[in-house]
Amino acid sequence: MDKIWINGGKPLKGDVTVSGAKNAALPILAATLLGQGEHRIVNIPQLMDVSTIKRLLNHLGAVISDEGGARGWTVRMPALAHADAPYELVKTMRASVLVLGPLAARFGEARVSLPGGCAIGARPINLHLMGLEKMGAEVTIEHGYVRVKAKRLRGARIYLDLPSVTGTENLMMAATLAEGVTVIENAAREPEVADLAQFLIRCGARITGAGTDVVTIEGVSSLDGSGTHRIMPDRIEAGTYLAAAAITGGEIFVRGCHPRHLDAVLLKLREIGVEIDEESEGVRATAGGPIGAVDIKTLPYPGFPTDMQAQMMALMSLSNGLSVMNETVFENRFTHVAELKRMGADIQIQGNNAMIKGVRRLSGAPVMASDLRASASLVLAGLAAEGETEISRVYHLDRGYERIEEKFSSLGGEITRIKQMP
Ligand code: UD1
Repeated sequence: MDKIWINGGKPLKGDVTVSGAKNAALPILAATLLGQGEHRIVNIPQLMDVSTIKRLLNHLGAVISDEGGARGWTVRMPALAHADAPYELVKTMRASVLVLGPLAARFGEARVSLPGGCAIGARPINLHLMGLEKMGAEVTIEHGYVRVKAKRLRGARIYLDLPSVTGTENLMMAATLAEGVTVIENAAREPEVADLAQFLIRCGARITGAGTDVVTIEGVSSLDGSGTHRIMPDRIEAGTYLAAAAITGGEIFVRGCHPRHLDAVLLKLREIGVEIDEESEGVRATAGGPIGAVDIKTLPYPGFPTDMQAQMMALMSLSNGLSVMNETVFENRFTHVAELKRMGADIQIQGNNAMIKGVRRLSGAPVMASDLRASASLVLAGLAAEGETEISRVYHLDRGYERIEEKFSSLGGEITRIKQMP
């Protein structure tokens, strides 16, 4: 298993281009199962999760040609080869559950391994299943798999107890081919939901309200190819690079990100004293002075994203005061704390709150990545720390960050991947 080696303490400076968003690419690739024609999708990030969904789509019967670089992928789904998402794939990527809605809607059947727990909490899919049942599907659970059957889904009024992101996406996709109108209330408002809706609309779907908390879908009898769709920029990757400028006292221009997608993050970065310039091509963060303390509560969009919590905590650990991080989205998302403490951070956890007392410096140490964003926080801490940091289990990082060590090297970071035989 590869490791990342960092010799920290250098201010990062320069331009970095943001990749396509993982959390938009995954549902959009799953949505290709719905249409009969050909889709061309560009700006797909090269990530392990994307390779996993490609394997899954191939298994289901999709024909994919990866033309590389700016040409992207062409995807066709002529006929169903298998109706199941096997455990081997779902256990490495929970978002595999996103094929449930499309398969049930177009082929009338789906069998998807239940994801089970994961490093950041229980993460059930009860809302996905409740919505499909409301749309007339028969849902059964057997041998660790959820099985969904339906002749043709029917439009329904669905209220989500929590604005689940993949739940909203799964149900929105399922509803595109249902008979009648579906209304999803308390829907997730994440920009990735809106990007998926744009893709579906290009395929002929009738959707209004995506990106707000009420999404209305008028079912159609079939969907076609999408023409070319460009995946939106990754707002979490962008936020991570802006936080890198802040934690190393540097200046980074993140090219290609949409400032509006990052409102809550930019607000908090400004609050701790980082200069943020929103430019037409992206966002620039300039730091250098002391990092101020700040309190943050993670919330569904447009609140502060839970996917930026770990990276911000690395930053707060070097502030000049006491900060509180309140994690409200996932119940067990502080696994990076023990590792940050090994680097000298002063953090106490009480339930879903972390109290972070800023220290003057972090020192490099061997640490272990435990989930995707936790890994990113360790990279940030390592870039700011005095001395050498070695991060193991970086496969977590490879799930969601494209060429992270290359991008940080190009900004002046002393960071390299140590390849290890499996
Ligand atoms: C998505 C993102 C992930 C992000 C998360 C929250 C993708 C592929 N992943 O994950 O990066 O961290 O949103 O912004 O887009 N819940 C239920 N029942 C359900 C579904 C969810 O109780 O059926 C709960 C979860 O346990 C969690 C909360 O709802 O506490 C939000 O989860 P959800 O929005 O579904 O996260 P994901 O879609 O899995």
